[in-house]
Formats: sequence, C-alpha cells, structure tokens
Amino acid sequence: MPAPPFADRPRIDALDKVRGAAAYAADMRFPGLLHAMTVPSPVARGRVAALETEAALRIPGVTRILTPADFAPTQRVADLPNSPRPGLVPEIAFRGEPLALIVAETLEAAIEGAEAVRVRIEGAPFSATVDSPGAAREPAPDVSTGDAARALAGASTIVEASYESPTQHHNPIELLSTTAVWADGRLLIHEGSQNAGAIKVAVARTLGIDPAIVDVKSATVGGAFGQKGWVQRQTALVARAAMLTGRPVKLVAPRGQIFHLATFRPLSRHRIRLGADATGRMVGVHYEVDQQNSRSGGFPANQYHDGAMRLYGIADYAGIAANIRTDTQAPGHMRAPYEHPACFAFESAVDELSYRLGRDPVALRMANDTRTDMHTGKPLSSRFLNECLQIGAERFGWSRRNPAPASMAAPDGTQIGWGVACGLYPTLIHPAVATLRIAADGSTRFAVAGHEFGQGIRTALAAVLTRELQIDERRLQILVGDTTAAPQHLTAGSWGSASALPLVVQAVARMRQAVAELLDGRRIAGTLHQQIATVRRPFLEVEVSQVGPGQDSAALQRMRAGGYAVTGPAYPDFTTMSYIAHFVEVRVEPRTRRVRVPRVVSIADCGRVVSPRTAASQVRGGVVWGISHALREATETDPRYGGFLNNDLAEYVVATNADVDEIDVGFVDEPDPLFNSIGLKSLGEVSMVGVSAAVANAVFHATGRRLRKLPIRVDDLL
Ligand code: MOS
Repeated sequence: MPAPPFADRPRIDALDKVRGAAAYAADMRFPGLLHAMTVPSPVARGRVAALETEAALRIPGVTRILTPADFAPTQRVADLPNSPRPGLVPEIAFRGEPLALIVAETLEAAIEGAEAVRVRIEGAPFSATVDSPGAAREPAPDVSTGDAARALAGASTIVEASYESPTQHHNPIELLSTTAVWADGRLLIHEGSQNAGAIKVAVARTLGIDPAIVDVKSATVGGAFGQKGWVQRQTALVARAAMLTGRPVKLVAPRGQIFHLATFRPLSRHRIRLGADATGRMVGVHYEVDQQNSRSGGFPANQYHDGAMRLYGIADYAGIAANIRTDTQAPGHMRAPYEHPACFAFESAVDELSYRLGRDPVALRMANDTRTDMHTGKPLSSRFLNECLQIGAERFGWSRRNPAPASMAAPDGTQIGWGVACGLYPTLIHPAVATLRIAADGSTRFAVAGHEFGQGIRTALAAVLTRELQIDERRLQILVGDTTAAPQHLTAGSWGSASALPLVVQAVARMRQAVAELLDGRRIAGTLHQQIATVRRPFLEVEVSQVGPGQDSAALQRMRAGGYAVTGPAYPDFTTMSYIAHFVEVRVEPRTRRVRVPRVVSIADCGRVVSPRTAASQVRGGVVWGISHALREATETDPRYGGFLNNDLAEYVVATNADVDEIDVGFVDEPDPLFNSIGLKSLGEVSMVGVSAAVANAVFHATGRRLRKLPIRVDDLL
C-alpha cells in the first residue's frame, strides 16, 4: 500500500539560495584563473581561410589564442545527447559558431582580444529559414496506428487546420559557463549542467583523453530546461585551454551567445485532420509535422506524435513527420520539447472540433477519455485526466461560461474569453545508482545520479529520506550532479524524481539490513546512527541501483559509462503518462488589443506528490512559460546573413510578473499503483503542456478570432 500524502516542507536549499551561499559554476574562484572568450562566426556557412591573431596577442593580458590547430581534427557528428562535439574546426556550420578562443588574465582583455581577431572567410551558400532555397525536406519514419484514412472517410465531422510554433531559445537566468582546472593529471570541470556524466565522456573523447581522469561538478544550476542537457560547444574549448596553459580557465558566455552556443526549440508546422463521429467520439487523425533542423542535427522529428497519439482514445492515428534542414546549430530539447508544440496544435484542433460539434470543450474531452495506450494496446498504469478536468472546471467556475465566441465582455468593452486545454507527458525512467552513508557522528550522506536545477530534487530526496529514516536534517548532505560522488545521468525529460526517489527507499532498506547483520542478532535501541556508533564503526555505506521496468544490467552499465539509457513510457506491462488540465481567462483590451491573462487554474496528475511546495512551483513556472510561449517568445532569423538575431532579454521577450496574475495550482495526488514504490510519475514538463492552446482557445472565445500561429501578438488582433 502506498504511504499517505507527503506533507508540505520548505525547499531544503532555500536559505543557501537567498543568502547567496549556493555556488554556481561561474562563482568558482581559483588562484591564477584565466578568463576566456570566443570569437563567433559572422557568417552562416563557409570556411575559415585565415585567422589573424597578431593584433589580439599584442593586447596586454591576452595569453593565448586557441585555433583549430590546437585540436585534433574531429568529425562533425550528428548531435545526440552524448556525442563528442568538435573542438574548433575551420568549417563553419552556423552563424555564431566559435572560431577561436581567447585566453587572458582578465575578462576585459579576453573580450578585447576576441574583438581584435580578424577572420578571413570563404563564404558558402546557406539556408537561413525553413522557407529558404536549399532547405531540404527530409522525411522521418511515420508513427502510425490503425487506419486513419479509413477512419476519416467514415467521420461525420472533420476539422482541418495548420498551426505553427516558432523557433525559441531557452534563457535561464544562469548563463552558460564552464570553469576547467587541469592539475595533477586530472581535469576538473565546473559547469551548470543536466548531464555531468556526458560532459565527462564527451570532453574526454573530443580531447583524446581517458574519461577516468575527468571529474565534472554541477552542484547547483540556475535553470536548465533541456539547454544544459547536451554537451555545449564551449566546454571542450575551455578544458583544452586549461590543459594547454596549465592554469584554471573560466568562460561565462554573454547572454547573446546563448542563441548560438547551445541548442534551441526548432520551428514546427503542424497540419492536422481530426475526425469525429456523430456522437462526438474522435475517431481518426492525420497529423503531419515539419520541424526545422540543422544539417546534421539528430533531434528526431517524429516524437511530436508520441504524446499527441496518447492524449485521447483515438485508435486510428497517422503520424507523419519531416525535418527541414537549415544552416543553424543543432536544435535540441527545450522544456516539453515535442508535447508542448504538439498540444498547442492538437488541443487547438480539439477546441475547433468542439465548436463544430456544438459541444462543451470540457465535456468533449472527458467523453474521449481512455484507459489504454492506443499506440501499443497496453493499459495505462494510471490516468486521472478527467479528474483534472473536473476539479479544474469547478475551481475555475467553468459552468458560468457562455459558450458563444465574443459573448463575454466587460462594460468598458474589454473582451473576456475562457479557454481550456490539456497536456500530457511521458513518465520516463533512467537507470541510476545511489549511495547512502550513515555515520556514527550523526551525519547522513545520500549521493545519486541527478541534477538540481531549481526543480527541487534535493528537497524531494530529503522528503523521502526523512520519511524513511530518523535523521538530523542539519547534518544531511545530498550530493547530485557530481561525477566524483555517483555516476551521473542526463537529468531531463522529467524523469529525475522517478529515477532517484525510489532509490532512497531501496537504500534505507539495504542499510537496515546491513546494520542488522552488523549487530548480529543484538537489539540496540536508537537511530541507525547510534547503532553504528555502538559497534564502533565510523560509518556504514550501501550502494543501490535501479533500472526501468524491462531494462537489464546492460542499461546500468551504459549509464555508468556516461551513456544515455532512458526507457518509457511504454513498459513491458503498461504505459505511464502524466496529465494536466489548464483553464485560462484572457482579457483583450478594446483599443490596444493587448491580451492579459488574469487567472489560470491548472490541475495535474503526476501520481503521488512528494514535495508539494516545489511541485506547485514547477507548475506555476510551467504556466508562466506557457503564457510566454503563447504571447511573447520567438527567435528571429536574419534571412540575409543567416543566424539568430535576438541578443538579450530586451530582444527575446519573455513573460514577466506583469504578464501573469493568479495561477491556482492543484494536484489529483493519486499514487500510480504500478510505476514505483512511491507511486510518483513525472511533473516538470507536463506543467507547460497545453497552456498555449488554452490561451489561444481563450482568445478565440473572447474575440472569435482563431489564431493558429504563435506567438499571438497585438497585431494579430487588430
Ligand atoms: Mo527538459 S527538455 O530537460 O526541460
């Protein structure tokens, strides 16, 4: 039987954060530290004919300039989570790509040095956008179930529409930064990352050294959202600089370089034909998605279907996908990478269907519920989406909604719209290893694969540890993101909790057993710490590991080697997804046509909630980002010269406090009975899935204007 709900508790690192005691990678100080800065490519494609570095080297303080000659020739490889990246190469694949690295005694000298380097380039033709000449459409494998063509031929109502989600860049508060120290034959890297294990392996492979001599620490991360899940371009450059100079080297990339050094959310276009029968049952879907990609990017195009096909019980689903190859850096995972744009499109189409059928959009969704993963035929381990809709509708006051578009207005002419949309996200699991150390002095140490980037994994681990064990929390150390403490996996895809938390339960059971063996039948009162003290041991440590359902020890071995070994959401006996329902009110001002979002109600089914406070905070963050996606964010491309133009937060507009008001968050908090011993599923990413559709649906309800391309801006509503 699952244990009772977890109580609310404060964030374990809250005081460290507000007092400035939490150390981020850029805070690391070392004697003799050198500062680095990259020289970015001014063109989108071509070849470096010559790098003129003499003037830069004459600047006082500039100590070294790294060029392609400082790296063994490397191939550009498809960008997958832990492939090695090239060091510096003369072939230019995108605008903003680093061509050289300046190393200097001061940051100022590094910046001045970078500006003084002259690059002679042989340019080549490039495709800046998905509509540019030369942007090749490359089909990806279909993801289909049943016979959508036949189902649609028999449908009585069909909605057919196209939707577009723009290119976007993650802009976490913490900038991209790497500090590398080469000493005593070891390389130590401090970097804000979701994947310290992959950095260890990829940097070693890029530089031709043994991964066993590389340590990576990423104890505290100031926002990640998938951007820091991949090995970034600057990391191996800074590491190489430390090895060549024999001194610690730090690079903090200016905000503008976030648009070039890391991955991004690619533009995607979604063409949907959704059919329903006379009773309002959705019977078939033909869904084609085109995704922007780089020339060699491995970010798969067909995963948009993995969520959309499981949102409702639709047996006949044709999922078509293609990459459009452009000359950019590789796109990658950005918070709910596929589910979020897919649910904008799909949940907009469902809203359009509700008007065509004359059905309430909440009731229509509830009538299309399922207990089965229609793609695999497996049962869902749990699904409480209808409960989310029910609770949300009640809290929001949905029954007071006049269904007619443009029917609800304030006396001053402000148009009011109420919209609903759902989201879902796979519940994945990554193999992980953990150690629990209980010491006679009363201290406790838990080290596990996982990274803390603000989502609250330390707090959730502490919640389970204190439920399972009597411990002094002031003497509790939780080590994550540290390859010297435990092998580290890619912590992403909202699998962090499910991959780490059940290990606490397992480790405590193993520890009790180990202590019992040590006591050899004697009964000694007190805590485990006291029992260990009684037998005169300084500490006892146990190691435990976990793989996903259906995985074997090979997956664990891959993980230990810094590899990627995630599994789910379809497991041998069931499929596990998390769900959410969002209810949004918008107000459209009569003269300015500005859209405001005064209130949102979001109810999630993430299984058992382990850390109520950080969980609610995750959902609020996701909702804010969903509003931002709906109304603000887009990366602009320069069609003349290629590359991304936004350079800072003045030009890449994100939602701020002024854009959000009341966000009421709730949880069904029903444990999943099959997925793990705690009953938890996934949360972070599902939070934002469907928000942008709920906003767009509310804008339609307010104005009668169906807007199918994000972001929705004032000029769309004039
Ligand atoms: Mo996830 S794409 O690591 O926010």
